[in-house]
Amino acid sequence: MILTGKCAIVTGAGSGIGRGSAEILARHGASVLVSDRDGAAAMATAEAIRTAGGKAHAMTTDVSDDAQLEALVTGALEHYGGLDILHSHVGIQVEGTLEQASAAGMDRSWQLNVRQHFRLAQLAVPHLRARGGGSIVITASNSGVLYDREMIAYATTKHAVVAMVKQIALDYARENIRVNALCPGWVDTPFNEPFMRQMGGRQALEHYVRDKIPMGRWASVDEIAEASFSLLPTDRPS
Ligand SMILES: NC(=O)c1ccc[n+]([C@@H]2O[C@H](COP(=O)([O-])OP(=O)(O)OC[C@H]3O[C@@H](n4cnc5c(N)ncnc54)[C@H](O)[C@@H]3O)[C@@H](O)[C@H]2O)c1
Repeated sequence: MILTGKCAIVTGAGSGIGRGSAEILARHGASVLVSDRDGAAAMATAEAIRTAGGKAHAMTTDVSDDAQLEALVTGALEHYGGLDILHSHVGIQVEGTLEQASAAGMDRSWQLNVRQHFRLAQLAVPHLRARGGGSIVITASNSGVLYDREMIAYATTKHAVVAMVKQIALDYARENIRVNALCPGWVDTPFNEPFMRQMGGRQALEHYVRDKIPMGRWASVDEIAEASFSLLPTDRPS
């Protein structure tokens, strides 16, 4: 297993794509600190990993709180003695046009879609360096490279986080720290509720997916988890 001996943190891993990412990392041998604001959901993911024969611990972390981000990285060191992989996955979708979105919604979008990734990556880097390198995956979105209608807070902050990832990748390339943005398309998780609300309900959203998505369907959590996994380096010694 190519990730045996590697230690990972995944945030937002109690559901959807984050859970899929934690599970695929564990399937390939990594020890995974499964983190989520919803502690019971984090525990359920960790339990599922252990039942399948993998290694995982759960931790309750609200990524909007800097002290909890610090505790998360400390938790990885305590459980596993180091850190090789960070998948910083949590984000928020605030719907609306310039006139519909509130300033508070924009602030929250910056906080969750950009700032907390910045802070967590900043906390992780010294520990990746101590292991001779590692990998950071930050979840952005297709809205980080394309645009949807009436999504100013989401599209702006997801574009910003893609820019931030490119900058971090350049700055740390010589230290064998790989940094990538994961830009999923449409995946059927509870995350899309604001967009569904805005579109006028489930049927309208299904119609949108059939009509606008090139494949004419949702992507599955597993497809996105595989894409995330493929961003990890596999040729480094532990
Ligand atoms: N689902 C999609 O179609 C899609 C598409 C592109 C990008 N994304 C990105 O994926 C992420 C959402 O993942 P998902 O679709 O699997 O959603 P999801 O709703 O299935 O899971 C999100 C998880 O994040 C946790 N969470 C929310 N706020 C948190 C916080 N402040 N601190 C810690 N945990 C928190 C929730 O408890 C939940 O377990 C976002 O970054 C989003 O931008 C999703």
